[in-house]
Amino acid sequence: MGSEHYGTIGGSRNAEHFERFVRRANRSMGRVMREHMENQDQKFIAQALKLAKKTNPSPNPRVGAIIVKDGKIIGKGYHKAAGERHAEIIAIQETGLKAQDLSNATLYVTLEPCSHYGKTPPCTDAIIDSGIKKIVIGCEDQNPKVEGIEKLKQAGRDVTLLKDQECYEINEAFFHWIKTGKPFVMLKLAMTLDGRIATKTGDSKYISNSQSRALSYAWRDNFDAIMVGLKTILIDNPRLTSRTPGVQNPARLIVDSRLRIPLTSQVLESNARRIIATTDRYDKEKKKQLETLGVEILVLKEEKTYYVDLKQLFEGLGKQNIISIMVEGGAELATALLEKKIINKAAFFIAAKILGSGKNAFDGSGVEKMDDALQLKNVSIRKLGEDVLVVGYF
Ligand SMILES: NC(=O)c1ccc[n+]([C@@H]2O[C@H](COP(=O)([O-])OP(=O)(O)OC[C@H]3O[C@@H](n4cnc5c(N)ncnc54)[C@H](OP(=O)(O)O)[C@@H]3O)[C@@H](O)[C@H]2O)c1
Repeated sequence: MGSEHYGTIGGSRNAEHFERFVRRANRSMGRVMREHMENQDQKFIAQALKLAKKTNPSPNPRVGAIIVKDGKIIGKGYHKAAGERHAEIIAIQETGLKAQDLSNATLYVTLEPCSHYGKTPPCTDAIIDSGIKKIVIGCEDQNPKVEGIEKLKQAGRDVTLLKDQECYEINEAFFHWIKTGKPFVMLKLAMTLDGRIATKTGDSKYISNSQSRALSYAWRDNFDAIMVGLKTILIDNPRLTSRTPGVQNPARLIVDSRLRIPLTSQVLESNARRIIATTDRYDKEKKKQLETLGVEILVLKEEKTYYVDLKQLFEGLGKQNIISIMVEGGAELATALLEKKIINKAAFFIAAKILGSGKNAFDGSGVEKMDDALQLKNVSIRKLGEDVLVVGYF
């Protein structure tokens, strides 16, 4: 067909046709190439994300990096813990290659590389020195000290910023803390269709199914602390441990205005940091006993009657580099946090069960008009067996 139309290119019409054909072919080749490159970028960033998710290097962000040359992964790394080498550095070192051999390689990194001196030197310098010319970045760092993209571009590097949603999400707590100095707070509750988190006798084992519980246990590995109210300890006696073998347990945080917690509570077992926030009304003898067990006691202002001042608590924890907290109930604590607008994200596992009466998930003074209802944003829904998980942001 080509020779039929464009075989003789002497005539000007034919020449015009031919040029148009070439332009169109180039455009569609360009589009195919671009799509291929974009797919490649997404594929390798997804692999770097898997690495990033392996640890919680709090108070540092979670980062994964891989280096690809001729379609093959030749280096990979993730940031294991604060003070240790950054993901990009591990990946570069793992290649074992000199600058001239890395010039046609691509670095894929989930977060904008750092450009400032922290506990380690700037990654941008190491990337520039490595000889790598092309860098694909999952998302920008919201830490105002970081200007990695700018610095790499100034050094003549080819930088692609994907603005990938999951790359932002894995560091949502870090971004919140770096901007506000306060921990990112996620409330997680299991409730029935009629909004109950326990029966009228206080029984809540179990509202959600095993799939939902496995997911919420796995979330514990991403948080610095797991928080509950005293009555949840008294009624449920939870352990609040990680269920992933080999993973460090998050700290446990309990609000207990008079230190009524039993010394035999499972949550006090010494396999993690344990923090009890209390008020001036605390039991002096109990404080000594708890401290002997290694429990940290924070004495804070009292508000309402017998309530620990939650704002003061969270500000203090932010200063201690606790950047993320998952609150696992109960209702009194959830309501107090909601009313104080302290919750950033909520995850509700809703079981297709009805109790008829029981403990409401929230039991505050409430609002009078629908217009005043608290509206979750960016809501996502997932089905887990017969349960439904609703996640959203305040
Ligand atoms: N379905 C679920 O996801 C789920 C999760 C957890 C618990 N639960 C259920 O919920 C029930 C327990 O919840 P709950 O609402 O009775 O109690 P809670 O929220 O677990 O604990 C509330 C207690 O914490 C202490 N506290 C101190 N400062 C506070 C503050 N600023 N805000 C709130 N509380 C503060 C108070 O005791 P002091 O006055 O002594 O300090 C308060 O009475 C149990 O039946 C449990 O099984 C269900």
